[in-house]
Amino acid sequence: MAQKRIIAGLDVGTTKICATIAELSRDGILEVIGIGTSPSLGLRKGVVVDIDQTVRTILEAASKAERMAGVQIDTAFVGIAGSHINSVNSRGVVAVTGSEKEIKGSDIIRVVEAAQFINIPQDRHVIHVLPREFIVDGCRGIKDPLGMSGTRLEVETHIVTGLITSVQNLVKSVQKSGIHITEDNVVLEPLAASEAVLSDDERELGVVLIDIGGGTTDVAIFQNGNIAYTAVLPVGGDHVTNDIAVGLRCPVLKAEELKIKKGCALAELVDESEMVEVVNASGKNSYEISRNYLCEIIEPRMHEIFSLVKKEISKSGFDGLLPAGVVLTGGASLMEGNLDLASEVLNTPTRLGTPEGIHGLMDFMGENMYRFQNDSNNLSTAAFATAAGLLRYGANHLYLPEGVDNEENLIYNFFGRLRGWFKEFF
Ligand SMILES: Nc1ncnc2c1ncn2[C@@H]1O[C@H](COP(=O)(O)OP(=O)(O)OP(=O)(O)O)[C@@H](O)[C@H]1O
Ligand SMILES: [Mg+2]
Repeated sequence: MAQKRIIAGLDVGTTKICATIAELSRDGILEVIGIGTSPSLGLRKGVVVDIDQTVRTILEAASKAERMAGVQIDTAFVGIAGSHINSVNSRGVVAVTGSEKEIKGSDIIRVVEAAQFINIPQDRHVIHVLPREFIVDGCRGIKDPLGMSGTRLEVETHIVTGLITSVQNLVKSVQKSGIHITEDNVVLEPLAASEAVLSDDERELGVVLIDIGGGTTDVAIFQNGNIAYTAVLPVGGDHVTNDIAVGLRCPVLKAEELKIKKGCALAELVDESEMVEVVNASGKNSYEISRNYLCEIIEPRMHEIFSLVKKEISKSGFDGLLPAGVVLTGGASLMEGNLDLASEVLNTPTRLGTPEGIHGLMDFMGENMYRFQNDSNNLSTAAFATAAGLLRYGANHLYLPEGVDNEENLIYNFFGRLRGWFKEFF
């Protein structure tokens, strides 16, 4: 086996497409060796609506990353989001087979399969089946039941589905760019992001991950170490830009610039006397407004986004059960005042989620950072949480510890390898 493996991630977002390439060493260390971004043109609200445009921008991002890394992307882990994503929790139950009543790999496969015997509409594709906990003879909270004794095995799973057509259009766009993938390489974006930014303690205690992108806001709730609820809201940072363009009657590009340079999600935080320059719709003349006025346009939209998240948390049934609070990622999370506003609306501590444990991420950002300049480049990496998370997710799914050569050992990495393992097993 080679000393290092190449892993690639492709975050196909509404505003940017980001390709990342990393080397994974045998001891599990991920080292980024190339990043390429390009402005996304073929997506609306997280969904591919123009395959040719999407292919062009994937090619641009991928070839930038490839040039930087000096390697070709053969296959990649690809993020998916969009309001077509649905998720349900489902339980599976089986009797443990074998005379010794010891739980084997085949029992685990059967019980996870049993959890999938629910009514999934024909136009939907199952993206993930994520075990949340196993229950052996009524004893709950078991993470890995392999080798335990018992007669009745149950599993609680979180099943994520997407519209077949949306999944296929994404897969098709990537394939047409010369990157070999199947539906199995598609990863729910907040699940990927969570792998890069959440600590084990946060996942265990209960935490909400909110990724505010350009066209969508992804919400994922984690508890007892596993994902328990997901939702994708069709609103993001681009709506803020639009509000500014309409409110100040200025070109969208200027509104975007104004938002990034001078925006604040909580108007009361800005100095009333500070003035900012606005270019009018013709793009020729300019005039001055108070920064406070600009922020009064931004605040209601950001407030709306966090209120919608609050509704999702109530809907999930986890209200009051998330002591680790909120972690924000995505480009639109970088705006000043967001942490305060989120804490206020959601009534819980909030922090920015910057990718951890991935070496060299900052070294390769370079020109890719241009749109996300913040006080600290390090914080700006929150905009790349999904891209970085896809690498971590890929590593967890590809990397097998030494000596893994049989079915029982494969269970070692059961949670990560679930889908791939099914394929190998049957
Ligand atoms: N410093 C900043 N302050 C405020 N907003 C910012 C900043 N930098 C980027 N944004 C906004 O972030 C959004 C893009 O975020 P991101 O790159 O995470 O989106 P995406 O992944 O392409 O989209 P999606 O996840 O919705 O498909 C844009 O609306 C952009 O204006
Ligand atoms: Mg995104």
